[in-house]
Amino acid sequence: MNILLVGSGGREHALAWKILQSPLCNQLYVAPGNAGISQIAECVDIAVDQIESLVDFAKTQKIDFVIVGPEIPLVLGLADRLRALGIVTFGPSKEAAQLEGSKGFTKDLCRKYNIPTAAYERFTDIAAAHKYIDQMGAPIVIKADGLAAGKGVVVAMTVDEAKAAVHDMLSGNLFGNSGASVVIEEFLDGEEVSYFALCDGKNLLPLTSAQDHKRVGDNDTGPNTGGMGAYSPARLNDDALNQRILKEILEPTVTAMITEGTPFQGVLYAGLMVKDGAPKLIEYNARFGDPECQCLMLRWRSDLVDVLYQCAQGNLKDAQVDWSPDPSLCVVMAAKGYPGDYQKGTFIRGLDRADACENVRIFHAGTAQSGDEIISHGGRVLGVCATGTNVTEARSAAYGAVDLIDWPEGFCRRDIAWRAVESVSGSSSK
Ligand code: AMP
Ligand code: GLY
Repeated sequence: MNILLVGSGGREHALAWKILQSPLCNQLYVAPGNAGISQIAECVDIAVDQIESLVDFAKTQKIDFVIVGPEIPLVLGLADRLRALGIVTFGPSKEAAQLEGSKGFTKDLCRKYNIPTAAYERFTDIAAAHKYIDQMGAPIVIKADGLAAGKGVVVAMTVDEAKAAVHDMLSGNLFGNSGASVVIEEFLDGEEVSYFALCDGKNLLPLTSAQDHKRVGDNDTGPNTGGMGAYSPARLNDDALNQRILKEILEPTVTAMITEGTPFQGVLYAGLMVKDGAPKLIEYNARFGDPECQCLMLRWRSDLVDVLYQCAQGNLKDAQVDWSPDPSLCVVMAAKGYPGDYQKGTFIRGLDRADACENVRIFHAGTAQSGDEIISHGGRVLGVCATGTNVTEARSAAYGAVDLIDWPEGFCRRDIAWRAVESVSGSSSK
């Protein structure tokens, strides 16, 4: 097959690496890709939101299969456009991508189909929202309805903070149209995990779990980011929890989407809060997580192209994924200043020696090529990933490689997978 992969992050570098291991792949194009991806596949200079150009490219290059990485093209309807031309596409329709594209859509679906989630109301009017916040008190969570690059959620510890967030969003200052409507919801206590499944419209293929680290600083301090590191599987996800996630959340969602006339095809990525073994849905994403995908691809032993193609064709019923039992871990290296302002174009050296470490693999995110050198070109720049026979081993390998990278303008968290590592050392000292 001639395959087009859409995206430019660490997620897409990991997907490209895995796609190229499939005997089904003849030629792989990635739009727009990054410096790491260009070392293994042909990058095409089309941005992920240039829907017309992506469709034209797929048509003229006789692409057999398109795999969509990020949410933006999905919400803009890329998959619908391609399917209308008969091009097999992995990823949900514009309507089904609302599971990620509209928080209000997902909350209303949960309410209608009894899917466990935080209690909530939706508002477009500031005064009504303020009244609700007064009634509910703090802590309380304010969410812009639409996509906001991971920045549309304010976990307010005081009523004043909550009211200010509502004011910023609904007065149109903060997120434009994405913030023209808000969800205000109950604060959930517990531990967050991510769970991934594929859905072909009707059949669900459970994948595995991961735990992301959203705050920028060690010990979960500082502002939220797109994710500073992850490991898989997540320490809480035993069979009992996975079964509850499937029965109580994912399966009812698949049925609900069919009943609503918007069947979902692609990755169902559930962000969950778990307390006392009970999962509640925080949010859905309609794609693989970044950096969770890097961890998943390191554990995925089956033919990725085959499974995703079966998914896109509605044939997941008998599909299976074989997982490595070894856990994987990803440390994100970001440009200093991220998630605020940061410098681009700084030199990154030592990547080859870091990548050569045993059980280590480096996936690029915001990188570019400058002559023979790799330079930074975004906020999250590298995913330094490793596997091991346990999380502690994977973590030592990943940080060993991080320490070989010469990039003074970069930084990373030093405590990825701390919950898992602490629970292992806690149990061994008992
Ligand atoms: P989201 O973009 O919906 O994943 O929200 C970003 C982050 O805000 C989540 O990863 C959680 O850490 C936090 N969050 C979102 N909703 C809630 C909630 N209802 N209770 C507590 N924390 C939340
Ligand atoms: N790592 C969080 C996300 O991909 O949304």
